[in-house]
Amino acid sequence: MRIAVFAGDGIGPEVTEQAVRVLEKLELPGLELVEGDVGGAAYYKHGHPLPAETLEIARSAQAILFGAVGDFSCDHLERHLRPEQAILGLRKELGLFANLRPAQVFAGLEDLTTLRPEVASKIDLLIVRELNGDVYFGEKGMRTLEDGRRQGWDMMSYAEDEVRRIAHVGFKAAMGRSKKLCSVDKANVLETSQLWRDVVIEVAKEYPEVELTHMYVDNAAMQLVKNPGQFDVIVTGNLFGDILSDQASMCVGSIGLLASASLAEGTYGLYEPIHGSAPDIAGKGLANPMATILSAAMLLRHSLGLEAEAARIEAAVAKTLADGIKGGDLGGSAGTREIGDAVLERL
Ligand code: IPM
Ligand code: MG
Repeated sequence: MRIAVFAGDGIGPEVTEQAVRVLEKLELPGLELVEGDVGGAAYYKHGHPLPAETLEIARSAQAILFGAVGDFSCDHLERHLRPEQAILGLRKELGLFANLRPAQVFAGLEDLTTLRPEVASKIDLLIVRELNGDVYFGEKGMRTLEDGRRQGWDMMSYAEDEVRRIAHVGFKAAMGRSKKLCSVDKANVLETSQLWRDVVIEVAKEYPEVELTHMYVDNAAMQLVKNPGQFDVIVTGNLFGDILSDQASMCVGSIGLLASASLAEGTYGLYEPIHGSAPDIAGKGLANPMATILSAAMLLRHSLGLEAEAARIEAAVAKTLADGIKGGDLGGSAGTREIGDAVLERL
């Protein structure tokens, strides 16, 4: 069981350290953790945010535990050298096309949401975000028009097979939950979305038990705040999923609690908190490591088939929260290591 650990930038190393302690505590026979450099940290060391050595380590492992990337000091670099290219490169190179982002309110934390608690307490949803296509990976560039104006451009597109495979992930996820799937697009304006919708409707024929609905992304953003309890599984493209998943995380109270899985065909996956590198609090021991710890639990479940161990970690995190041990993001005062200690104790 070889797991690659890519801590990255900002708070990445701090939160990853705690998740590694949790994994080690389980004393899983044959577990081997191999570290690699990504993001700005890798750029400063190797001249590239995703060095070949790191990609090698990723390929030799069964799964990746990922911290965060992003560093303002790299903002001036050409785009292909910026820290974000590490995560985008891993997603593309490793075929990690299906991003699962669950959001639910933890018991006892209903007051933390900026929504009314009775609205937020109904949130229990899963965003299935396509991760290998869309405007993220289309051709892009900067050019100067004939009249001298500069223009930035990014090409948005989806091919039908790309939509089909993520639609299957969405329908399968819905089958395992409450059999409701909402496909989010912008088919009233975009051809990319029209194809998306057509293909999702075709795939739906293979899942007659699932109730499929469609929603425009602007309406979905509104409904997520108005009545988030109406959603169960949402399937959407790369860009819309990026935006809606941040929104969903805030609806439940804190981005510091939400884990995510990025899966390839089969069991290979990359697991990361959905929060970023938070440079403003990096190195201060203030970051909440729970999202990364919960990502490690997802890793055990999806990539290693260790359901019982995953559930143990999740229970330990829930118990820590229920006992009132909270990070600053949750209005508490516990530091990164203190939260790690508390989860370990309960494990
Ligand atoms: C995310 C992040 C990334 C994205 C960035 C870091 C490239 O926001 O995982 O949601 O836009 O996909
Ligand atoms: Mg994002």
